[in-house]
Amino acid sequence: MKILVTGSSGLLGSDIVFTLKKNNIEVIRQRRRPENGFIAADITTADGIATIAGLEWDAVIHSAALKDPDKCENEKDATFRTNVYATEKLAGLAEARKAKFIYISTDYVFPGTNPPYSEEDRPSPVNVYGESKLKGEEKVSSICKDYRILRVPILYGIRAGLKHSALLYSPLSVLLSGKECPMEDSIIRYPTYTGDVADAVLLLLRKGASGIYQFSGEDKLTKLGICKLIAEIFNLKMNNIIRLEKPPEGETVRPHDSHLKTDKIMSLGMNTPLPFRERLEMLRKEGFLKI
Ligand SMILES: NC(=O)c1ccc[n+]([C@@H]2O[C@H](COP(=O)([O-])OP(=O)(O)OC[C@H]3O[C@@H](n4cnc5c(N)ncnc54)[C@H](OP(=O)(O)O)[C@@H]3O)[C@@H](O)[C@H]2O)c1
Repeated sequence: MKILVTGSSGLLGSDIVFTLKKNNIEVIRQRRRPENGFIAADITTADGIATIAGLEWDAVIHSAALKDPDKCENEKDATFRTNVYATEKLAGLAEARKAKFIYISTDYVFPGTNPPYSEEDRPSPVNVYGESKLKGEEKVSSICKDYRILRVPILYGIRAGLKHSALLYSPLSVLLSGKECPMEDSIIRYPTYTGDVADAVLLLLRKGASGIYQFSGEDKLTKLGICKLIAEIFNLKMNNIIRLEKPPEGETVRPHDSHLKTDKIMSLGMNTPLPFRERLEMLRKEGFLKI
């Protein structure tokens, strides 16, 4: 089997490629910008889609997206071209050659007012990013016969380099800078390790019926909580961090708590993820997480 991984230079795509290769699966790595070892293709253009159509693959893991909620809010057209139009085109290519299609989606398809959410709960996104990813899901499920949609919450990882992992990099930079910084303590996040998501993708590739699946870490933390935990692990002081009771005025609206139920993927044999602290301590011990 030869698998096309879109967005394979990204935070998640790089771990998906790593896991597939470790399991002796042949991979085609795609990204937008040219780089050795990657197929460069802008999936928002007809040329980019033609490039991908000209390659030999028999399954697609579609991880490429615009994922920054603030940017998406301000760049709605680019967001819809990337997250909806390109997804529609890629799903069409996969269906034409009867290839399995795995689409990476998000907990932001839910409003975050009544967690936890199951795969069957009705999505109702509160921002442009969530709306575009939900529309992407709808394209995939209406075009492909053999698809898997995998919803995940906020991710962290090290494979693409620490700077790609805002969840780790931002608090670390702020803590190390010593400069005063406000940090929000209300929106609930469930940090999820990209290596675990890559395992979930592999599981869905090998098992599982067509449909929607969800996977999530189980640590319930705000941005401030994440920062405190990172400060403890690296023995850094929190003196420069100012607690904000709610998100700053004018910030893009985010779901308050979009906790995902994971029983469906767990029943396929997915391993329980390591707690956030344990994973960070392990990455640190192994030398992947350095300051
Ligand atoms: N990160 C999270 O916390 C999170 C949470 C939930 C769900 N997700 C979902 O997980 C998936 C992966 O996210 P990520 O964090 O790995 O993203 P990322 O680090 O921002 O990487 C995005 C990837 O997509 C590629 N890409 C973007 N626009 C493209 C275009 N027009 N044409 C071709 N390639 C393009 C980028 O290529 P270049 O590097 O060449 O630009 C890069 O390889 C996304 O579907 C996202 O919605 C992410």
